[in-house]
Amino acid sequence: MTTTIPARDYSLVGSESARAEERGLAEGKWFQAEVAPDRMQQLMERRDLRPLADTIIWVGLIIGLGALAWSLRGSWWALPAFIAYGAVLGGAADARWHESGHGTAFRTPWLNDVVYYPASFLLARGATHWRWSHFRHHTDTIIVGRDAEIVFPRPPSVGRLAWTFTHIQGGLTLIGTVFKHAAGWKDPVVDVLVPEGDRKRVAWEARIYVGIWLAVIVWSIATTSLYPLLLIGGPTIYGGWLVVFFGVTQHAGLREDVLDHRYSTRTVLMNPIFRFLYLNMNYHVEHHMFPAVPYYNLPALHREIRDQLALPVPNTFAAYREIVTAFRHQHVDPTWELEREVPDVPGVRGSIVQGFEWSGETTNDGWLDLGPGDLAAGQSRAVTIDGSERLLACTEDGDMVLIDRMCTHGDADLAGGTILGCEIECPKHNGRFDLRTGEGTRRPIKEALTTYPIRMRDGRVETFGTS
Ligand code: FES
Repeated sequence: MTTTIPARDYSLVGSESARAEERGLAEGKWFQAEVAPDRMQQLMERRDLRPLADTIIWVGLIIGLGALAWSLRGSWWALPAFIAYGAVLGGAADARWHESGHGTAFRTPWLNDVVYYPASFLLARGATHWRWSHFRHHTDTIIVGRDAEIVFPRPPSVGRLAWTFTHIQGGLTLIGTVFKHAAGWKDPVVDVLVPEGDRKRVAWEARIYVGIWLAVIVWSIATTSLYPLLLIGGPTIYGGWLVVFFGVTQHAGLREDVLDHRYSTRTVLMNPIFRFLYLNMNYHVEHHMFPAVPYYNLPALHREIRDQLALPVPNTFAAYREIVTAFRHQHVDPTWELEREVPDVPGVRGSIVQGFEWSGETTNDGWLDLGPGDLAAGQSRAVTIDGSERLLACTEDGDMVLIDRMCTHGDADLAGGTILGCEIECPKHNGRFDLRTGEGTRRPIKEALTTYPIRMRDGRVETFGTS
């Protein structure tokens, strides 16, 4: 039996895109579980040592398995060695790419970049193009016509799922896109996702990738051997099955067009080896709800909010079993949905409030009292002054500042952000602002925050004038 329901348009430039906007699904207000602000600040804390250890183990595995595969070349034993090498290089790179792209893996920002750019190359994902694509994925998760990262448009099929595992089509599409960008061809997806000022970077990054691939091809031709290609470039395709293996569990078969990750996203309990390879992204509902929480704190976040979520899927096999069931039904009826029993809890829509209204007294020289200057380094307090939302924050150097409270990129409340050094990180897409100047210091921020004058007097904070 075939369906008579017309297939939806999953492109970012089609009719569904406008429809999502009309229905209020674009840049909507998402359900968030309730977490005490102090606890959330703890969960958002970044470290360097833990991700450094994980990265060293990962790189060690790549070098060890690569050396083993190389030493076994010419024998059939090279086959399993290359399969393992490809999976660790071209597959496990995905989780590293993801976490460092969010900027949440390492506390030190440049360490995230050191991992992000090579991992982007290993996956044949343009670093800038995919950074913006992933911002959108977090803004409009599984909203048809808005999210470029919906892997299984409906109607899906089990056959297509199996084919996806070869990563032949997926890998070649990624590589083809890079060539297109290197040649400077117009790409409507880039036009939608990437702001104009960043589009030149898309082309130049693609040219660097192509340059490396061409050098490897020349090396292969010169040595009349496929081994160079099996070591560099090839794992993007033949190791990609591991990207698919984990990635499929995130959203496949679940609901589309719903502003609540508990219905569209899947948390799966996985074993420690999988969790190492996948960097705890099996806690995917938690990650989408709180993208500022680094991967090593996701198990703790899960324990904190699990009573507000649907039950997690107990293991990877169970996740695949429900995906296959969903695909069988949705192949016939694309509107068929997997059931999720979600607890009826109030949660929070859109913002985390941890401040207070303020209508303090104005001193006779025009300064407005904002209360005691008792914030510790790294703390912030939201204040509303005559209806204007601001954030009093204390940098880790102990400097007190007053800035706009809402992020200039989207509708996110910086009161729920993380203070790192002299910067504050937005909880929604991990963009950052310099607290002292208000300038954006990390994408996707393009527009500065307004900063306001303050002074300390007798242990109290004051700002000049009102809104
Ligand atoms: Fe996107 Fe703040 S809303 S970085």
